[in-house]
Amino acid sequence: MTYHFDELYPRKGTLSLKWDQNESLFGDPDVLPLWVADMDFRCPPAVIETVKQRAELGMYGYTIRTEEYLAAITSWFERRHNWKIQPEWLTDTPGVVPALSIAIQVLSEPGDPVIVQSPVYNPFYDVIRRNDRRIAENPLRLRDGRYEMDYEHLESLMREGAKLMLLCSPHNPGGRVWDRDELEKLGQLCEQYDVKIISDEIHCDLVLADKKHVPLASLSDSIAKLTVSCLAPSKTFNMPGLNSSFTCISNPEIKRLFDERIQTIAVGGVSFFGPPATIAAYNESEDWLEALLDYVRGNMNYAVSFIHEQLPMLRPIISEGTYLLWVDCRELGLSSTAIKQLMYREARIAFNEGSLYGEQGSGFLRVNLACPRALLSQALDQFKAAIDRI
Ligand SMILES: Cc1ncc(COP(=O)(O)O)c(C=O)c1O
Repeated sequence: MTYHFDELYPRKGTLSLKWDQNESLFGDPDVLPLWVADMDFRCPPAVIETVKQRAELGMYGYTIRTEEYLAAITSWFERRHNWKIQPEWLTDTPGVVPALSIAIQVLSEPGDPVIVQSPVYNPFYDVIRRNDRRIAENPLRLRDGRYEMDYEHLESLMREGAKLMLLCSPHNPGGRVWDRDELEKLGQLCEQYDVKIISDEIHCDLVLADKKHVPLASLSDSIAKLTVSCLAPSKTFNMPGLNSSFTCISNPEIKRLFDERIQTIAVGGVSFFGPPATIAAYNESEDWLEALLDYVRGNMNYAVSFIHEQLPMLRPIISEGTYLLWVDCRELGLSSTAIKQLMYREARIAFNEGSLYGEQGSGFLRVNLACPRALLSQALDQFKAAIDRI
């Protein structure tokens, strides 16, 4: 089947977080928004059809999760990631970020340090701070244009008493798809120091490089026992507004505590559209995903070549995964405020400004590549023209 990723569907006036806030966020209704991580592509046909049929029912009542739903999830992870999940390890969550927050509450106490590897997806900081925990930063090292974990510093944080880590795998921003041996090394340290890991694998299906995502909990039973895996079809199939996400926890004690917490704050239900759309996504949309990945790879190659040829003072960090491109703009020598001014006022585009992801992100920009190539190309042209005028 052919999919039309080149087609630009207007999203203005659809209550879109990305397209309907230009005026309030950037002071200009015509800014091109290539920031927040949702895609400007229509969902797989099977998902659209399923949601339409659900909508046709006209009664949007409380909804249950079925065995078919659980089987769709378990067979997807077995098929795509070679990871055998038992249905009883799964808990539905209202979103991945809520799951991170709940897992922090269950696995740590106020005041405790929680390890993050910066620069990292900004809500990681929020969920730690808002739960009155402390951030224990293990900055990633940028070596030859590629991020690596700093195991020595990581071990020192664990030796000093950190008992919980938030892992972003694949990593947002920076686009690393962590290798098996990197994760094994991380897992060994966690086992040695009895550190629990909340592993945010929301981008697990979005691998661009010729490699495979390795679910942390698939490494061994003992590492699985330390891990809360946070998963969703939302990034993969562009359905974050359907609030369909789940955790996978094979440690019965952690699972019990997590589920109790879900009950306590009463967020255990599933959305009306979530489970049927998840079934349609996981069971019927694999070819759409392959086509999407090809298109995003094309966009990444386009953007990287453009930057190399037209903006040689910028350095793109090649994304192995996610549909986000992290670009080192430090040579421009601009402050965060100045780079925002350059984007919003001069170029009339909105990429994400890097300091949002922590101090190490200063001077970087994050570009959302999941849009029609014409839009990406226009945004890059406008960015270049603005830089040329500096
Ligand atoms: C690493 C990561 N985790 C979580 C989310 C959002 O998850 P949710 O919308 O399910 O809370 C995103 C969205 O960009 C993300 O990049």
